[in-house]
Amino acid sequence: MKFPSPTLAAAAASFLSLVPVGSATKVILDNDWSTAGFIPFLLALNAGWDVLGLVGDTSNSWALQTSLHGLATLEVGNLSSCIPVYKGADYPLLNTPELFQAWEEVHGVLPWQGAFAPENLTEEAAGADPTSGDPNRVAQAAFLEGYPNGTLTGEYAAAWMIEQVHKYPGEVMIYAAGGMTNVALAVRMDPEFAKLAKGLVIMGGYIDVNLLQVTGSVNQADMNSDINLMIDPEGSKIALTADFPNITIVGNAANQVMPTQAYWDEVYQVKNPYTSLAYNYYGTTFAFWDETAMFAVLDPANVLNSTSFYLDVDTAWSSPTYGNIHGYQEALMPTAQKLQKVNYVLEVDSTKLLAEIKQSLQYPKTCADLC
Ligand SMILES: *[C@@H]1O[C@H](CO)[C@@H](O)[C@H](O)[C@H]1NC(C)=O
Ligand SMILES: *[C@@H]1O[C@H](CO)[C@@H](O)[C@H](O)[C@H]1NC(C)=O
Ligand SMILES: *[C@@H]1O[C@H](CO)[C@@H](O)[C@H](O)[C@H]1NC(C)=O
Ligand SMILES: *[C@@H]1O[C@H](CO)[C@@H](O)[C@H](O)[C@H]1NC(C)=O
Ligand SMILES: *[C@@H]1O[C@H](CO)[C@@H](O)[C@H](O)[C@H]1NC(C)=O
Repeated sequence: MKFPSPTLAAAAASFLSLVPVGSATKVILDNDWSTAGFIPFLLALNAGWDVLGLVGDTSNSWALQTSLHGLATLEVGNLSSCIPVYKGADYPLLNTPELFQAWEEVHGVLPWQGAFAPENLTEEAAGADPTSGDPNRVAQAAFLEGYPNGTLTGEYAAAWMIEQVHKYPGEVMIYAAGGMTNVALAVRMDPEFAKLAKGLVIMGGYIDVNLLQVTGSVNQADMNSDINLMIDPEGSKIALTADFPNITIVGNAANQVMPTQAYWDEVYQVKNPYTSLAYNYYGTTFAFWDETAMFAVLDPANVLNSTSFYLDVDTAWSSPTYGNIHGYQEALMPTAQKLQKVNYVLEVDSTKLLAEIKQSLQYPKTCADLC
């Protein structure tokens, strides 16, 4: 940690002294959970972090469906008795499926449209998570991990997150690997929220990838598009310009490490519900996106290269980069708005990431380990 002035350093030292020495970092994981999406919370638990709870948000599917996946994937490992799940907001701050589809007609189709893909009940009956239509419907066929037997702990995720940062000032990392609507709501409901958190880490925020969107397959374009920010451009801007003590962006670097079949074969040498779900459903098409974002903050040594700059989010509906980030160096940054200086991860320790994912899956922590 580096402080620009002795006064600030003293202020920070007295603030940090309020944090109990040796206590584990606490984390709230806000994500669009899915059948094989549980590795981020297993990684945090494996690192000895205290997972205060999960929030299900709208990004790949609607918040109700993703919250129930979060609950189901905790139940699979007997973790639901010690980790609560709160449902996030159904809709982004402004965006709707209709507005998003109209935007696509003007600016081109996203290869992955997440919750805003057209509704298709045939696909839902065959196991797809719900998209568009009524956000309050649940598609049970998508619960390949088993339908949850318990219930969600609460429905007002933003209010719960605010309570947690007040309960543990300076200790709670906010991990947001789906849409940023709930983080934005918390920021707007409570001016203290961001500064009372320990930091924010997000999956998303790709930069300078347009050439990769046009010079390869649709899958390559998919890996370089940014649904997490684009599903809620205004929410992303509110979250990423809030005064968190530390903001870490894992965009381009999230594409660094790809799972292979040989890797899954190795993981599945130890058989348990998590290795089985990962082996059967994670696949080898997409990189360890959300896992890399969690890994990047678990230990500073996990990041091999990074840079920092002032970050804005494009919120002009008329723009083809609506919802994408824009970086500035200090000398050239805007003066009419206050942007935050963020850590932008360029490279992580891939060998260590693969080893930690394997360890987290093969020997997952249980509630007994957590008390
Ligand atoms: C809920 O209980 C049923 C019946 O025991 C089981 O089949 C299902 O897998 C359980 N759900 C989860 C997520 O564990
Ligand atoms: C969860 O608990 C059940 C019943 O006690 C046990 O059979 C199962 O192995 C446990 N699962 C994990 C992942 O620990
Ligand atoms: C819905 O999905 C099915 C199966 O993929 C496809 O055949 C059908 O054309 C889709 N319907 C619409 C309206 O897109
Ligand atoms: C911010 O977080 C990153 C990632 O955990 C860490 O490397 C960095 O040292 C932190 N910066 C400050 C000022 O705390
Ligand atoms: C870090 O990344 C930058 C940008 O790609 C590159 O120029 C630089 O050489 C890298 N540094 C290290 C130590 O890998």
